[in-house]
This record gives sequence, structure tokens and C-alpha cells, in this order.
Amino acid sequence: MKIRFLIAFLIIATLIGCLSAPSIPTPEPYGQRYIKRGAELVKGLAACGYCHGDSAQPDSPLSGGRSFEDKYGEVLAANITPSQTGVGDWTAEELSRAIRFSIGRDEEPLSIEAHEGYRWMSDQDVYSIIAYLRTVKPVDHEVERRSLSIVDRYTVGLLESHLTVAGYVPSLDSRNVREYGKYLVNNLARCATCHNSPESLLEEEQFLDGGKEIKLSSGENRVAPNITGSKTFGIGSWTQSEIVSYLKTGQAPGNKISDQRFCPTHFYKNAFGQDLFAIAKYLKSVESADAAADADE
Ligand code: HEC
Ligand code: HEC
Repeated sequence: MKIRFLIAFLIIATLIGCLSAPSIPTPEPYGQRYIKRGAELVKGLAACGYCHGDSAQPDSPLSGGRSFEDKYGEVLAANITPSQTGVGDWTAEELSRAIRFSIGRDEEPLSIEAHEGYRWMSDQDVYSIIAYLRTVKPVDHEVERRSLSIVDRYTVGLLESHLTVAGYVPSLDSRNVREYGKYLVNNLARCATCHNSPESLLEEEQFLDGGKEIKLSSGENRVAPNITGSKTFGIGSWTQSEIVSYLKTGQAPGNKISDQRFCPTHFYKNAFGQDLFAIAKYLKSVESADAAADADE
């Protein structure tokens, strides 16, 4: 009997140990180079304002309050301007922990899905984002926070999602265009959050294979298409410059225009041109699971 208690105690202690928030020393970033890159990411590929903006526009104040759905239900985006009601007195370390690990200031887990993929954002890019956030106009706007019960928090995914902790994440060499494009797609723009195929009882999500319904809070919805390099199912027949041009304008070959409220190309157009080119190169190399299934038949 005693041994059982001991084992239970050890398991609980280990779990609590794993949950305590990782602490990774983060220097306070400053300097024009960081601020410029940060602006390009926040208003561009990382599209922070798509959720945190007062409206979903690149120049809208990041004062939060708009509502999103994750697996626990409704959650409101936080005020991330440097005000009293925002993140004015957060340290760089606290900010980087919230962005990459979805851990809040009081070590409580935040919505994991909101920042999924950021975990492996390079230190350089996180520092840049923090440096830029320090320079935006502070807005006083109290956002009501969600509180989850202990049971909700420590079930389904939340626990495991906090276990892997990236220490130092080096920047990728942007001359390795395909790998750099992969990094941008997965760890900054996170195109997969919308463009993966939907998960079902029988099948896991397939990478960029499309088919998920994206809903706005107004209730309107669109299906995100397959954007793999498959000529049959994806955008394999588009040239790289057609993909870049899509990301800048929302206009697909054949004059079809995507709705920016669903695919935030009004943000992507603020990205560095070379970054968009790297994304295009990478997308062309992604194989479609649909195509693989076809080949098997
Ligand atoms: C898909 C929507 C979405 C995107 C994109 C997004 N966030 Fe968030 N973020 C949220 C939500 C929702 C919360 C609040 C989560 C909660 O309360 O559990 C949050 C919380 C935060 C927090 C914690 C603030 C606090 O007071 O707890 C910070 C800091 C933050 N986000 C920064 C960023 C930055 C910087 C970016 C861009 C690199 C970004 N977020 C992109 C939805 C998003
Ligand atoms: C918030 C969800 C969301 C995100 C994030 C997102 N997309 Fe989209 N995307 C959509 C939806 C929905 C559509 C369809 C829009 C429509 O029908 O008006 C779309 C359309 C597209 C199309 C047009 C494809 C076609 O066949 O017409 C391309 C290309 C595309 N997205 C690429 C990307 C890339 C690359 C990224 C990441 C850099 C990205 N998207 C991020 C939701 C998203």
C-alpha cells in the first residue's frame, strides 16, 4: 500500500516538475535591425494582428479582444501592446515564453493552438518581434481572460504540448532557400493551421492537403484548398512567381481572387520579397498525400 502511494506521489511530482515553465535567458533586444525585422514579421508573415489586432488588419493596434475557437472553446486574443493592461511590464523572457511555449506570465498554460508552430521560431526572429512590440503605441484595453479548470487544462494535449522545450534555436541560412522556406511556412506563417486536411476518426491531418473549413466569428466560412506541389490536387502548375504574386495580392492565376479575411495575404504582402520567394520554392516541393494515395491504387 505504501509503495503505491509512493509511486503515485512520484508520478505527480514528475508531472508537476515537467509543467513548471521553462526559463530560457532572453536578452532585452534593441536596435534598428531587430525592430525592422520584427515589424516585417508582425505585420507580415507571422500576421500577429490577424488575431491580436483590434481589427484583422496589419496596421490595426494589437489591443486584443477578438474571439477565437480552440479545442476548449472560445478564447479572446490578448492585448499585446506595451500598456498597463497589455504587456508593458513583461520581460523579454516572459514574452518569448508566451510566444513560443504558450505559457503565460503566471506560468498558466495559454491556448496552445493559437501559437502552434512558433516553438521552433529562431531566437533571432523572436527577439526581433519583441523589439518591435516594445515600439508600438500602448493601448489601454482590458481583455477578459479565459480560465480553464485544472481538469480541462491537464487533459488532451495541453500537458504533452508543453513538454518539449526549445533552448537556443539558431537562425536558418536564408541561402538554403528550400529549408528556409520550410521554416517560414511552418514556424512563422503556419500555413498548415488552415491548409492541412481535416482530422477525422480514421485519418490524421495531412500536410497542406486542404479541405478544412475556416470559419470567421461572423459565421461565414470557406474551405482552405490544397497548396502542395501536386499538379493535380495542389498548386503544382503555378510558377514560383505566380505563388509570390498570390501572396502579395491574393490573386491566383486565372484572376481568381481569394478573400483576405480567410487567407491573410494583406499581411503577407508586407513580408520581405525574398521570404515569399523561399515559401514558393518550398511549396512546390511538398508532396500531396492525395497524390500518393492515387499512385497506390
Ligand atoms: C491564431 C491567433 C493568434 C495568432 C496568429 C497570434 N496569437 Fe498571440 N495569442 C492568441 C490568443 C487567443 C491568446 C490568449 C490565449 C489564452 O488566453 O489562453 C494569445 C496570447 C498571446 C500572448 C500572451 C499575452 C498575455 O497577456 O497572456 C502574447 C505575448 C502573444 N499572444 C503574442 C503573439 C505574437 C507576438 C504573435 C505573432 C508572432 C501572436 N501572438 C500571434 C492568438 C494568436
Ligand atoms: C487563417 C487561415 C489561413 C492561413 C493562415 C493561410 N491560408 Fe491560404 N487560404 C485560406 C483559405 C480559406 C483559402 C481560400 C480562400 C477563398 O476561397 O477565398 C486560401 C487560399 C490560398 C491559396 C489559393 C489556392 C487556390 O487554389 O486558389 C493559396 C496559394 C494559399 N492560400 C496559400 C497560403 C500560404 C502559402 C499560407 C502561409 C504563408 C496561407 N495560405 C495561410 C486560409 C488560410
